[in-house]
Amino acid sequence: MSRELSLAEVFQLGYYWETKILLTAVTLDVFTALDDRPKSAREIAEQIGAHGPTLELLLNALVAMKLLLKQGDHYANSPVTGQYLVKSSPHYVGYLLRLHDAEWNNWGKLEETVRTGRRMADRHVFETDPELGGNVLTVLDRIGRQSGPELARRLKLKGPVRLLDLGGGAGTNAIAFCEVYPDLTATVFDLPATLRLTEKTVKERGLTARITLMAGDFNRDSLGGPYDVVLMSDILHYQTNEGNEALFKKVYAHLTTGGRVVVKDRFLDESRTAPAWTTAFAIHILVNTQFGSCYRCSDVVQWMKKAGFIDIVEEEKTAVVQGVKGQQVGAM
Ligand SMILES: C[S@@+](CC[C@H](N)C(=O)[O-])C[C@H]1O[C@@H](n2cnc3c(N)ncnc32)[C@H](O)[C@@H]1O
Repeated sequence: MSRELSLAEVFQLGYYWETKILLTAVTLDVFTALDDRPKSAREIAEQIGAHGPTLELLLNALVAMKLLLKQGDHYANSPVTGQYLVKSSPHYVGYLLRLHDAEWNNWGKLEETVRTGRRMADRHVFETDPELGGNVLTVLDRIGRQSGPELARRLKLKGPVRLLDLGGGAGTNAIAFCEVYPDLTATVFDLPATLRLTEKTVKERGLTARITLMAGDFNRDSLGGPYDVVLMSDILHYQTNEGNEALFKKVYAHLTTGGRVVVKDRFLDESRTAPAWTTAFAIHILVNTQFGSCYRCSDVVQWMKKAGFIDIVEEEKTAVVQGVKGQQVGAM
């Protein structure tokens, strides 16, 4: 059993002031304003459209938090904020923090949701602010470029495999699979608005001849195919239990016999108290989505079994599950 928390650690868990200071600074784009040279609070305020004396309080806190440096009355980026929080930097990750800031008000309704069981978010931020959604997917694409090839290699695919990357986002996994397997071709299926970004990333990586884009809603539209492998990466937690059950039946119908479905997501273990990050992610999904939920691998196994999949294995604990389409015939 893990050790008990000290009172100091409990207080630390309840302390969010610095979180909100950082998120506000990113949303105001303070770090980008300091890209060219150190500036006074007044100069930064003029540039970003803020009240100088009030901004100064925020800047001083950012200095104390080691996110900015201060010399005299001039502020400058630290090496880390200069690299990751300046918009023109190729390593900019601020859109992820801006997403957290955009979701701030939803978190404020957590108490009411827990009291009543009612969801308060009627739409995901990606729908209310598609520009931010696209920018977040771009950052996730950059970060995901490391894990995509690992997953591709682990599946040990052979020959001219036809892959469907369902809800494929920026095409991160489809691109990684094409790079690992030279004979593989892929279809990225996603909502039309997302595919505008996918088109750009696929073109940038020189893969337009091998990756087809298919626009649609996977809960309503045909998925095309048939395919040898269907990848479902980080899409199940936005859906209801019933929606996922139906989706696996649909995927089954669009696979060739002997084809595989591969699911990658953030799953809870059977106790539902681990992994720790995922238990908090489940609350994030609760407050920020209309229907979503964090599931267990055993839920996926049930959906797969009901759809007719066989040889179901948890490839990676609480992360990757795969199943094979046997001889039964599913309905399109
Ligand atoms: C968290 S992203 C995952 C992206 C990608 N699979 C990955 O792992 O990087 C979820 C994706 O599912 C897409 N999506 C959500 N609901 C969808 C639906 N009903 N039909 C098609 N795509 C959907 C979103 O547009 C988004 O690109």
